[in-house]
Amino acid sequence: MNLIEKLGLTALHRLDPERAHDLSIRALAAGVAPLHGKPVTSDRLRINLAGMDLANPVGLAAGYDKNGRAIDALMKSGFGFIEIGAATPRPQPGNPKPRLFRLTDQQAIINRFGFNNEGAEVIGRRLAARSSGIPVGLNLGANKDSDDRAEDFAKVVSIAGAKADFVTVNVSSPNTERLRDLQGADALAALLDRVLTARDALNSQPPVFVKIAPDLSDAEISQVASVARNAGLDGIIATNTTLGRDGIHGSHAGQAGGLSGRPLFEKSTRVLALLHKATDGQIPLIGVGGISSLDDLWEKLRAGASAVQIYSAMIYQGLSIAPRLIQGLDDRLGQRAITLPELRGSGTKDWL
Ligand code: FNR
Repeated sequence: MNLIEKLGLTALHRLDPERAHDLSIRALAAGVAPLHGKPVTSDRLRINLAGMDLANPVGLAAGYDKNGRAIDALMKSGFGFIEIGAATPRPQPGNPKPRLFRLTDQQAIINRFGFNNEGAEVIGRRLAARSSGIPVGLNLGANKDSDDRAEDFAKVVSIAGAKADFVTVNVSSPNTERLRDLQGADALAALLDRVLTARDALNSQPPVFVKIAPDLSDAEISQVASVARNAGLDGIIATNTTLGRDGIHGSHAGQAGGLSGRPLFEKSTRVLALLHKATDGQIPLIGVGGISSLDDLWEKLRAGASAVQIYSAMIYQGLSIAPRLIQGLDDRLGQRAITLPELRGSGTKDWL
């Protein structure tokens, strides 16, 4: 982290967290935030993920640029891919404020945004207007007041999916009541069928991922794995935020919402390893949850991830975390003379 970034972060962390978040997006959109430039890449780092050529396997997770306001800038932050959203069919305000809390001691975040967003049409237009660059995915959500949530996911695909390089069925946000019920085997199979039908109707046919919660039981995780395989899904993102509060202390520990950041690392990595085992390594897995160092990133790949995503660590370490971790990964792959495909899943059993 350089001095400018350090000063910027210190100033942002004096503000209310949601205001700081909005300001950082505005600074990026206005082109006044320092950026790395091109994605970090090398022969060791390049991968193909579900048909997408990535310069490196490290992406920005959903929920940071919810409305796609800073896509062009974020494409220049060093990441290999980014995910925007969640987008719901109609715009909605989300939950009352305050709804975002920093647990600085624990390098964690609690949020209960509840899919505040400007809606699929506006977000789709921003996706369409972006410059060329790295793959950009769209996280799909459902409106709070919808009577057919599954239909909402398909609608967002129809409205904005053609402009995305991949779409993610987010059935794991804890902040929309009963949304996570869609992770059950029958509900998930029916939902994926509708989303895939909407995707198949598009000319561009973007890959479809499903994103799951870290709070599922082992049996539920293997059900998700088999539903995903049977549906012909392109990948699974593990995981979203947790409702768990193990070991969490301090004034915000009791806030309702999803917990992310460092305390989520172990739980989400175990889910990833279980999925790798349950799918025999046959489906690409994207590991997310609590990555804040090169060792964490390495461990996600060992547990079974083909690629990873980061969010909360960026709040604490700034955007320069992307090039730093990715360059570190390249160096370590070289030093240890191991390729990404060889590393993937080489440590799954340590997590089971
Ligand atoms: C999120 N996350 C999220 N995920 C998703 O699929 N759709 C979303 O809209 C959001 N929104 C969101 C907002 C905020 C403020 C946070 C902190 C997180 C979850 C995110 O993509 C990721 O899965 C978790 O944060 C775990 O990764 P980290 O943060 O521990 O690296």
